[in-house]
Amino acid sequence: MIKLPDFPWDRLTPYKEVAQAHPDGIADLSIGTPVDSVPDVVRHALAAASDSPGYPQTHGTPALRAAAAGWLARQHGVTVDPEAVLPVIGTKELVAWLPTLLDVRAGDRVIFPELAYPTYDVGARLAGAEPFATDGLVALGPERVPLVWVNSPSNPTGRVLPAGHLAKVVAWARERGAIVASDECYIGLGWEEQPVSILHPDVCGGSHEGLLAVHSLSKRSNLAGYRAGFVTGDPDLVARLLEVRKHAGMIMPGPVQAAMTVALDDDAHAEEQRARYAARRSALRTALVSAGWRIEYSTAGLYLWASDGSGCWEQVRRLSESGILVAPGDFYGVAGKQHIRIAITATDERINAVVRRLQ
Ligand SMILES: Cc1ncc(COP(=O)(O)O)c(C=O)c1O
Repeated sequence: MIKLPDFPWDRLTPYKEVAQAHPDGIADLSIGTPVDSVPDVVRHALAAASDSPGYPQTHGTPALRAAAAGWLARQHGVTVDPEAVLPVIGTKELVAWLPTLLDVRAGDRVIFPELAYPTYDVGARLAGAEPFATDGLVALGPERVPLVWVNSPSNPTGRVLPAGHLAKVVAWARERGAIVASDECYIGLGWEEQPVSILHPDVCGGSHEGLLAVHSLSKRSNLAGYRAGFVTGDPDLVARLLEVRKHAGMIMPGPVQAAMTVALDDDAHAEEQRARYAARRSALRTALVSAGWRIEYSTAGLYLWASDGSGCWEQVRRLSESGILVAPGDFYGVAGKQHIRIAITATDERINAVVRRLQ
């Protein structure tokens, strides 16, 4: 039996109950799930494609792949061949299965950041490999490392890795023949810093060899419910993933492919959504700082990474008494034990309630 980590969210339940008892209701900032509507253009595209009796293409339609390549070029200065784009059924699915799809095996180590989205660890375990959280690649011994995850902007910290840092990771990995998978699901949400893709020429020197970038539409386009993302980068690696995914039936539904194409071609809705998050972030940030929290990193993405100097569970408890639910930092690694993660994804009404309660 593969040993999976305990599902940590159950530990929040008692604090959720306290927060729910607040006379004005709970303000749940513990998870980063979108709450604003799916943009109309995207809903129309989904509806227009609903008569979809045949099997969809695992590789995605040519229009979808062209839209993904177009968006990367337009917004992020990255050039990829549409042939090297592969849709995934939400990026959590790819994160969890990438080590398996790449034939990572027992005895291998899958590397990911010390403070990280828990699914990198899960993916290593599903492949029978060893999950290994470290921010110090150079301290690793000479063993075979098939796969290294990076995540900028980071969940949970909102930290952005500069191009120079990412370039060092790429150089380190290329020396050893390791694949670098870059989870870029918050790349369009830079506030005080502009995130850069692993596939940008300033990082990779113009070659995508050994590199994969993973992109999600969940946050940019409020499509978490549609399960829409894609992976791109090294054409040989993408071809390998495509081959396995074809055999395994890992296919994005046709109507979602159509909706995702329109979402990638349209920047107007993404700008509107960005503006909503910017306003919520700024209101929350000011309120938290006035109430005694120190914000660290958090220059991009959908979370504020904060500490008042006490333990993370004490901070969760304190906020729950004001009806505010946040995530304890130790969900993301032991290095988070004095921090909390506050999602900026609640409605304006709930964000205003939090601001009032913190005063
Ligand atoms: C760092 C990171 N990667 C991947 C995902 C998965 O996103 P999705 O499966 O919605 O594309 C999330 C979701 O919050 C995340 O925070």
